[in-house]
Amino acid sequence: MIRQNVSLEPYNTFGIKASAKTFAAFSNTDQLQQLFYDPVIKSAANLLVLGGGSNVLFTKDFDGAVLKNDIQGIEILKEDAHHVWLRTGAGENWHQFVLFCIKNNFAGVENLSLIPGCNGASPMQNIGAYGVEIKDVFHSLDAYHIKDGHIVSFSNNDCAFGYRESVFKNKYKNQFVITHVTYRLRRQPVFNTSYGAIEQELEKMGVKELSVKAISDAVIRIRQSKLPDPLVVGNAGSFFKNPAIPKAQYNDLKNRYKNIPGYAIENQHMIKVPAGWLIEQCGWKGYRQGDAGIHPKQALVLVNYGNATGAEIFNLSTQVKESVMEKFGIDLEREVNII
Ligand code: FAD
Ligand code: EPU
Repeated sequence: MIRQNVSLEPYNTFGIKASAKTFAAFSNTDQLQQLFYDPVIKSAANLLVLGGGSNVLFTKDFDGAVLKNDIQGIEILKEDAHHVWLRTGAGENWHQFVLFCIKNNFAGVENLSLIPGCNGASPMQNIGAYGVEIKDVFHSLDAYHIKDGHIVSFSNNDCAFGYRESVFKNKYKNQFVITHVTYRLRRQPVFNTSYGAIEQELEKMGVKELSVKAISDAVIRIRQSKLPDPLVVGNAGSFFKNPAIPKAQYNDLKNRYKNIPGYAIENQHMIKVPAGWLIEQCGWKGYRQGDAGIHPKQALVLVNYGNATGAEIFNLSTQVKESVMEKFGIDLEREVNII
């Protein structure tokens, strides 16, 4: 059903009170195709596909059609001795899918526990956490080409995954609606506990024998300790990407700021610096301007305490960007999709 002037507040985890001129949900590919026969959708000034709305910031009302992806389903496509291929509807909730994998002992996504949003968005920015990215388990996806009306398949290579990047954020921006995503999970786990505080957390939990469930539980505990729950405080996770800077610039900064953290990027002469550290050093952590703020436990997360507008959050992000540029000469890139 196509509706007019629909509040988007329940559809974005920032809790921004914007509205969409037109709004429609679809729960299978046929319904999606039908929508594009409708003159209201066909003539819409802009289109926006939404999953869980956990990586968008609405800075104004949306003067076009929001298409909410509700395609459900998890299907075992094939399996062999080592792997299982799972084809999922793009509207499946990502964390519920992770829990399904853990319950069935399918390994590979446990480090990606508790990331909000839907499977359809997982390849959009190649979601990542705790040393794993979706590209490590991604097999292929099906997407509806908006202009041609065809379903096109994309392999892992076709998606050109990078750090918080894919072809859908660049070359094919706004051209496809992802309908299904297929992942290849492992039957025998390869545990990845080297990142961040996972090992410490497992020790605290008293885990003697590693399992995908134990890693998932550890990741959930770490995330809950520092990331705000969008049901309590509006946010979209990390607002900026962690910047990669040339080694020479990093060494220069290291002379001035002895504690600056940095991680060498494999096969590149670049160092990744945690944006959260840069922002905290500029004094922003815990800062509040009206209802827009910087999370007190994680400076990379901008928050809406209730009634902030998208424009206020965006303005705050601009101030943060400017101060990091002034102090460190580093240009932070927004990770959240600004609408
Ligand atoms: P949406 O916000 O609905 O959409 C995001 C973008 O993808 C939009 O541009 C939208 O148009 C497009 N899109 C969505 N679905 C489709 C589709 N089916 N077809 C075409 N385009 C589509 N991200 C990480 O990578 N790692 C983290 O650790 C992480 N932690 C987070 C923690 C919190 C508390 C929050 C709130 C967010 C976090 N995120 C993280 C960001 C977010 O959860 C992910 O980017 C997630 O994949 C977004 O999914 P979504 O369904 O909510 O996407
Ligand atoms: N730090 C600070 N102060 C802060 C926050 C971070 O100094 O307020 C420094 C610390 O040195 C800390 C380091 O930053 O050790 C890294 O912090 P954290 O482990 O919290 O991770 P992050 O780099 O801030 C990234 C992702 C997260 C992902 C985590 C875990 C990006 C942009 N963000 O955050 O993804 O969950 O690593 O892997 O790459 C998201 O994309 O929305 C997201 C939450």
